[in-house]
Amino acid sequence: MSTPITNVMDLRALAKRRVPQAFFEYADRGSYDEVTLRENRQAFDRIKLRQRVMADVDNRSLATSILGQPVSMPLAIAPTGLTGLQHGSGEIHGARAATAAGIPFCLSTMSICSIEQVHAAVAAPFWFQVYVMRDRGFTRELIERAKAAGCSALMLTADLTVQGQRHREIKNGLSVPPKLTLRNLLDIASKPRWAMSVLQAPSRSFGNLQGRIGGSDSLTTLAQWIASQFDPSLNWKDLEWIRQLWPGKLIIKGIMDPRDAVIAADHAVDAIVVSNHGGRQLDGAPASIDVLRSIAQVSADRLEVLFDGGILSGQDLLKALASGARAGLIGKAFLYGLGAMGEAGVTRTIEIIRRELSVSMALTGQTDARAISPDVLWRSEPNG
Ligand code: GLV
Repeated sequence: MSTPITNVMDLRALAKRRVPQAFFEYADRGSYDEVTLRENRQAFDRIKLRQRVMADVDNRSLATSILGQPVSMPLAIAPTGLTGLQHGSGEIHGARAATAAGIPFCLSTMSICSIEQVHAAVAAPFWFQVYVMRDRGFTRELIERAKAAGCSALMLTADLTVQGQRHREIKNGLSVPPKLTLRNLLDIASKPRWAMSVLQAPSRSFGNLQGRIGGSDSLTTLAQWIASQFDPSLNWKDLEWIRQLWPGKLIIKGIMDPRDAVIAADHAVDAIVVSNHGGRQLDGAPASIDVLRSIAQVSADRLEVLFDGGILSGQDLLKALASGARAGLIGKAFLYGLGAMGEAGVTRTIEIIRRELSVSMALTGQTDARAISPDVLWRSEPNG
């Protein structure tokens, strides 16, 4: 009998066996020397929780709301590129699992299944993440498509106008669809479950970018395509234009400095995501959990502060809530579950984190996820 899956790292191990190397490493790794990627993990491990006792924690509530939407727990699925190549129809699996679990799902511009394909397959509204392209007409089109699909929030990613280099992408020759080199073919041949799921999927290339990447272009590397399309001139003035196109809930992702959080609040943004893009962009940036508190302190009364940056467990999520986040987003943890077992794996990831959060709340004397304060954390002095 195989060893039972008890945590998200078990799902990672399974995903590593089941997903072709180029795609697994796209999800798993970071930019340059991966200092920030490692720091995201190590910073969580450094933070210690306060054990409290005799607090009657029999009835605990994890429910809260994000952007006015009631959710079963303070968690959402982050937008991740190439999700449908971790597992065929990955975006649809992710959206369905999130909906069933009562949490939001955010679809990436760089998804494999298109906005329309996810909309057709999943009843509940999802969020859409947008990159601002040099071709503003195309950006407008993406936003209009999200509106037509009834998306309930637009998430503008602000920290990837130029891409931090990920060495593994280059070394693996990452391209979409996959280049059929001998090495890739052998890799795919040893992953029949993955190959079957991808063959059955409605899309195997970037679903939202039809006609923009494709034909002979499709074998350019992802990095080359991003460099040619994404607009590095993006600035706060562009928000006015985006606001006109999108009057609904607007989230800015990639805030790592309290000054930028204040500017976002001045622009009447509904939420920010404190994020270093999972250690995939500015290598050398601090862990996002280490800057969360200072950002929440200056902005949480003016907008909702969401967080991503290496959440792999309910304990990590509890630390993020205690540092001022209203909710955490999972990227890697989501993709590990998906790559391991498709929709059931995503459900498993969410349930593992839910149970861990609930138990850790009990052991820190907490009964309401909406009321978790910094008191849950030890300050620098263990007896302080
Ligand atoms: C895209 O958002 C990426 O991090 O690859």
